[in-house]
Amino acid sequence: MTVLEAIQKSTEFLAKKSVESPRLQTELLLAHLLKMPRMKLYLNFDRVLLPVEIDSLREIIKRRGQREPLQHIVGSTSFCGHEIAVSRHALIPRPETELLAELGWKFLATRHSPLATALDFGTGTGCIAIALAAKCPTAKITALDISAEALALAKQNALQNQVAERIEFLLGDGFAALTDKAQFDLLVSNPPYIASAEIETLDPEVKDFDPRGALDGGADGLDFYRRLATEAKPFLKSDGKIMLEFGDGQADDIKIIFENEKWIVEAVQEDYSHRARILIARHG
Ligand SMILES: C[S@@+](CC[C@H](N)C(=O)[O-])C[C@H]1O[C@@H](n2cnc3c(N)ncnc32)[C@H](O)[C@@H]1O
Repeated sequence: MTVLEAIQKSTEFLAKKSVESPRLQTELLLAHLLKMPRMKLYLNFDRVLLPVEIDSLREIIKRRGQREPLQHIVGSTSFCGHEIAVSRHALIPRPETELLAELGWKFLATRHSPLATALDFGTGTGCIAIALAAKCPTAKITALDISAEALALAKQNALQNQVAERIEFLLGDGFAALTDKAQFDLLVSNPPYIASAEIETLDPEVKDFDPRGALDGGADGLDFYRRLATEAKPFLKSDGKIMLEFGDGQADDIKIIFENEKWIVEAVQEDYSHRARILIARHG
């Protein structure tokens, strides 16, 4: 079987399994398998695959057909230019969250204290904390999570990306993980925000492979925003900012939650698909 024939056959199989963008997914998996950039496949369409390559391709296409996310199969994803290892213990970093990280590092860069500080609440793979540490070479980041397995993965990712010495990792339930009364310049979070009953309606890649604890935001999806609005102020410097990602259609409710707790909502930022996605607020 040639590369082109393998692509055609696998694409057909994934399409039957209702996988989105089946041709792209096939090409990405085959490129990963053959250790070449995807575009190079196009120069190799006539190359005959070895039997061992066909077996491996069959195996990974089968996994993708069972709706295992591509990132789990290849073992990593890219976030703000950093390679981030992924596993079933942490949410796969999403492209929308890169915008949150970018807003975060742009704000941190304006801080004139010798050591700007940020707290990443619910760090998962560590993607946001790592991006902040990498872009702000003098900043000190604290990353907390309730999942010990996620935190272990985040530490490994920080080491791989050479920023581990500037990130402190803390295990615990929200702010209870903090051992001292630290006050941060920036508080950043992409908390679980799916309404519990909605989780079952999500794509299999999400509901069966992202950890439930990374998705479940309680009955209406807003539990973490209520919690952050009531608990976060003592941990934020008086001129610091909180930046939070949220889901589709949640902007108005979250704005009200924060304003009711006497925060000043500075902005609700849209993502690249023009969906309201990030709340930026400060002390009232
Ligand atoms: C939506 S994921 C975000 C992960 C990562 N920051 C990202 O943007 O890809 C939410 C994270 O919050 C963590 N989490 C859930 N409840 C928590 C709690 N009570 N305290 C601390 N972390 C929590 C989950 O384990 C998960 O890693």
